[in-house]
Order: sequence, then C-alpha cells, then structure tokens
Amino acid sequence: MESGKIIIKGGRRLTGKVRISGSKNAALPILAAAILIPEKITLTNLPSLLDIQTMLEVLNELGANSEIGVGEVIVNTAELNKYDAPYEQVRRMRASAVVMGALLARFGKAYVPMPGGCNIGSRPINIHLDGLSKLGAKISLEKGYVKLSARKLKGAEIYLDFPSVGATENLMMAACAAEGETIIDNAAKEPEITALADFLNKAGAEIQGAGSDIIKIKGVKELKTTTYRIIPDRIETGTYIMAAAITKGDILIEEAEFDHLHTVVTKLEEAGVIFEKKDSQMRVHLQKELSPVNIRTMPYPGFPTDLQAQFMALMCMTEGMSVIIESVFENRFMHVGELCRMGADIKVDNHTAIIRGIKSLSGTAVNATDLRASAALILAGLAAKGETQVSGIYHLDRGYEYLEEKLTKLGAQIKRIHSEKILLEEENYD
Ligand code: EPZ
Repeated sequence: MESGKIIIKGGRRLTGKVRISGSKNAALPILAAAILIPEKITLTNLPSLLDIQTMLEVLNELGANSEIGVGEVIVNTAELNKYDAPYEQVRRMRASAVVMGALLARFGKAYVPMPGGCNIGSRPINIHLDGLSKLGAKISLEKGYVKLSARKLKGAEIYLDFPSVGATENLMMAACAAEGETIIDNAAKEPEITALADFLNKAGAEIQGAGSDIIKIKGVKELKTTTYRIIPDRIETGTYIMAAAITKGDILIEEAEFDHLHTVVTKLEEAGVIFEKKDSQMRVHLQKELSPVNIRTMPYPGFPTDLQAQFMALMCMTEGMSVIIESVFENRFMHVGELCRMGADIKVDNHTAIIRGIKSLSGTAVNATDLRASAALILAGLAAKGETQVSGIYHLDRGYEYLEEKLTKLGAQIKRIHSEKILLEEENYD
C-alpha cells in the first residue's frame, strides 16, 4: 500500500462528465453478508477500492474464494471454515466488524478483534453487542477480542439507542438466521441499509421496513445464491457536486442516484448551486456567487456526516459566515487545521465550526487524516491559488475510485507522486 502525494494546480473550472462508482458503504456489508450464503454470489458495479480489497481479504482469510472481474466479484463461501476475523484486516478497516452478525449466524460463534478507535472518534460497538445479546449471543471481551457464541439465535425486539448504521447491518444479518421474528426499532435508514436488505431478500431473506425506523426480519432456514448490482455511491456523488461548485464549474454527473441526496441537494440549492436533470444525467453548475448556508450533520435522511468536510471546504470560499454542527461523530473536524493552513478562516468550539468565507485559499502542503477530510483537501486544492500537495492519500484510495483520472477528465490539473516509502502499518482507518 503506497503513501505518495497528490499535487494539484488550483484555479481550473471543472467541466465535462463524471461517472459515479458503486457505493463503498453498500458493498462492504453486502460482502460480509456473503458469509450467510454458503454458495456463489455475484456482485456487479463493485468499486475497486482499498476497503473492498480489505473486506475480500477478510473473507478469504475465513476460507472463502473470490474471483475479481472488471467491476464485479464472485464470492463463494461454501468452504468457509473459520469464525475468527483476522486481526490485521480488522485493525486496518474497522468496518470489518460488520462480519460479526453473519459469522454468529453461520457458525453460532464469532471472534472479532475489538475494532480500534480512529481519527474521527472512539467508534464503540456497544449498540451492536447489546443487540446481538438480545438475540441470544453470549459475549465476552478477552485480550482485545470480542467473543460471541449462541447455541441458537432467537428473534427479539431490539431498540437502538442511536440509529447506528453498522449495528443495524450486523443485527439484520444475525436476525436472518434467528428463530422467529426480530424487530429493530430506531434502525438506521441509510440507502446502504435498504441495499443490504434488498440483497438479502433476493437471496431468500424476509426483511421488511428497511429504510424506515422499524425493520422486521423473519428468520429463514437458508439463503441461496444470487446476483446483485451495487447502488451508486452517494458520498462520491456529493463530493463531485461540491468539486464543481467550489471551482465554479459546470459538470454532468452520470449513474448517480440523486434520491439518496435529497438533503444535500436542498442545502446546495439554498447556497446557489443549480441542478438540471438531463435524462439519466444531472447537470451541476452555478448561476451566481454562492451564499453561505448552515448545516447540522444527522443520521439519514439528514445531512450526511461523510459530506461535512467537503461542505466545509466549499463554505471556506463562500462570502459570509456559515455554521457547521457535527452531531454524529465526536471528532470530525480534523480537516479544519489543514484548511486553515490554506488560509481558511474557521473557528471551532466543540461540535460547532464557524466559517467566514474568504476570496481565495492558497495552495500549500497539507496532510489528510481520514477519508473524507482528504476529499475536502482535494476540493480546497482544486480552488486554491497555486499548488497544493496532499499527503496521506491512502485514505483517499480507500473510498474514491480513480479519483485523479476522474478529476483530470473534468479538467483539473492533478497528479500523483508515487513514493517508494512503503506505508508503515501504524495508521488506523475510520
Ligand atoms: C458508517 O459507519 C459508515 N461506514 C461511515 O462512513 C459513516 O460516517 C457512518 O456510518 C455514519 O453515517 C460504513 O458504512 C463502512 P455508526 P458506522 O455506527 O456504522 C456511535 C466513511 O467515510 N456508535 O452509524 O461505524 C458512533 O461512535 C465512513 O465512509 C456508538 O456509540 O457508523 C458514532 O458516533 C466514516 N455505539 C455514531 O454512533 C455503537 O455501537 C454513528 O456511528 C455504534 C455506533
């Protein structure tokens, strides 16, 4: 895994077409759900990202076979013979914890390294574990491992203290094999939850209500082979919309699902971004100077926390004052310091950031700390005067497919400097 740097010469308007890739955050739990299906499954529109590679490594370590085609993968877990998730991969990508529910369902046991915290927060899994114990799992924490076992999983009514995406996914998967009906109340409503339910139902599950607060899952005897196309990545879509806005560009976005971005579109229209549907494409451009807009990040369908950093970069270049409240993660303002080094005027008080727009940012060397902060620095670099060097770009490679190629096609002056230094594996991922 290389580190390297991305160099951007700012000031170019983005124009032209960009195709949105499959969603990382839909693909990861669906890959984990392959554990529930002891046969071959085929996933198409799979993005080629480091995190997808990591999840495939987890499955292969557990005994699965996977063949990667172009934008698709065939996974066969018939030979799965282990229920302990590999430490190296879980440490590298905490989202691997989403194999817990499926391993418990398949083997009646699951040993998963406690996913560490990361730059954006402590990322506990108490909601996951409370729910799994309600389904009958015995849980112990030993030497940094979560050890779960359940002679039999029984359906239960589970209320989530917070609509956790990962907890909803883990519980949905475990409930597919539980006896009777499980109700998840205050469930996460993200499109990635609905996608997971659609995939599982195609394989024979009986899940209703995904996308609403109440999800009902009837346990079934078995799940069968199926194929599934991964939904478009709404966070990548939002990132390119803001890349167009920050460079006062005019782009056409293809293969996106704008229904998954209703709040984001509403907020950006308020700021002055124009959206024009053209058949299966969406034209995004500006008619006038942008106006400052306030946001508070919320669970879906509220403004997504994964677009907060990118929105902040956009507000840095928008005359006037805007307020951003981050209410999902406890420490998701790591990009503020780096944006200020580019000349931004941002004051942070706990979970609130106050941004005063300035005429222009100045390019300099900046360091990415987490996946979405790195996207914000790229956006800032696209608009800044002069050259910006973004290091820590392995974060980007985890979540943005063909980023430089897509931006270059849109007219950006961007290139990657490969560095021989092999990344030391001390980094945690969000
Ligand atoms: C998913 O993470 C996404 N990751 C995140 O995207 C996204 O930011 C997040 O949902 C919120 O939308 C994937 O889908 C792989 P949560 P997840 O459980 O499931 C607290 C990206 O950039 N919490 O909804 O980990 C937690 O600390 C990534 O692509 C508990 O307290 O998010 C956080 O404050 C970053 N206890 C809040 O809930 C728990 O047991 C939201 O977490 C679980 C969560």
